[in-house]
Amino acid sequence: MQIPQDLIDTAKLKLKSVQSEAEFFQLRAQFLGKKAYVISAFATLKSLDPLAKVAAAKELNILKGSLNKIFEDALVNLQSEDDFTVLDTTLPADPYLVGSIHPITKVSQRVMDYFLPLNYQVFPGDEIETDYYNFEALNFPENHPARQMHDTFYLNSNAQSQHLLRTHTSNSQIHSMLREDLPLYMLSPGRVYRCDSDTTHLPMFTQIEGLVVDQDVTFGDLKGVIINFLEYFFEEKPEIRFRPSYFPFTEPSAEVDIKFGNNGWLEVLGCGMVHPNVLKGCNIDTKTYRGFAFGMGIERLAMLYYGVEDIRDFYSSNLDFLNQFSS
Ligand code: DAH
Repeated sequence: MQIPQDLIDTAKLKLKSVQSEAEFFQLRAQFLGKKAYVISAFATLKSLDPLAKVAAAKELNILKGSLNKIFEDALVNLQSEDDFTVLDTTLPADPYLVGSIHPITKVSQRVMDYFLPLNYQVFPGDEIETDYYNFEALNFPENHPARQMHDTFYLNSNAQSQHLLRTHTSNSQIHSMLREDLPLYMLSPGRVYRCDSDTTHLPMFTQIEGLVVDQDVTFGDLKGVIINFLEYFFEEKPEIRFRPSYFPFTEPSAEVDIKFGNNGWLEVLGCGMVHPNVLKGCNIDTKTYRGFAFGMGIERLAMLYYGVEDIRDFYSSNLDFLNQFSS
């Protein structure tokens, strides 16, 4: 049997011009694949007489081993060359992700930007609260139906102090009146929790509470501040509707809606004159002082401001969505 002796030289020569792994494996198949000479030649051995068969098989095996070794060495070289290219420090760096401020944080900041120059002080609030500050002190008597509207998350607690996740930032009204001197102009941003979820409701959302307690404050002052704020916020005069409403801690109370696309109106805040029972509970003389309060939903304002239709998008952690607000 005639075994071609130049196979090794040819393989070496061809390997020199290989530039990629794909080319390498193509070439390897030509020399060591099923149809390659060294492999198919084994099949022809059976036609030889026993002595010649042994000699030819030995030669073929040596050739196959040499080819294998040549290709293995070439692959190692090729891969280390690739590594060298990856480490080329003159190449431009891979683009990396740059973080940005969350749209809800941006909108909260925008609200603060309006009120802080008017001398409202920021008052931090507690997310874990007792029934007293979330309901009782805000004039929600026990078993009052208004409590049911809040879909409260209750925490395991003993019977003496019923702990819950606050359902609104109005708890900050009570804490601030008990702690601060009058007159009081305060703003309290934070997270609130309700067992509720659809395109306009979330189980966790953000509110900013505002409270003014001073002499001679009227519903007219409240209305003026709210309208002026909304015009500042939207940088135009949106269609605003004050709708009479009910909250146990304000009397009279109103809800404020804003025209929203073709879908009609979207409620963005509740407000009213602080109920005398609430002031009295905080040892405030209701003959001298009155108050107004408001609580706004930041996600709702953000939906209107950015034209977002599904409130849940804000917390989807979807980078394509969030990147829209990165500038
Ligand atoms: N706490 C109310 C809510 O979450 C909103 C609200 C209404 C806040 C009237 C107020 C207010 O301060 O005066 O539904």
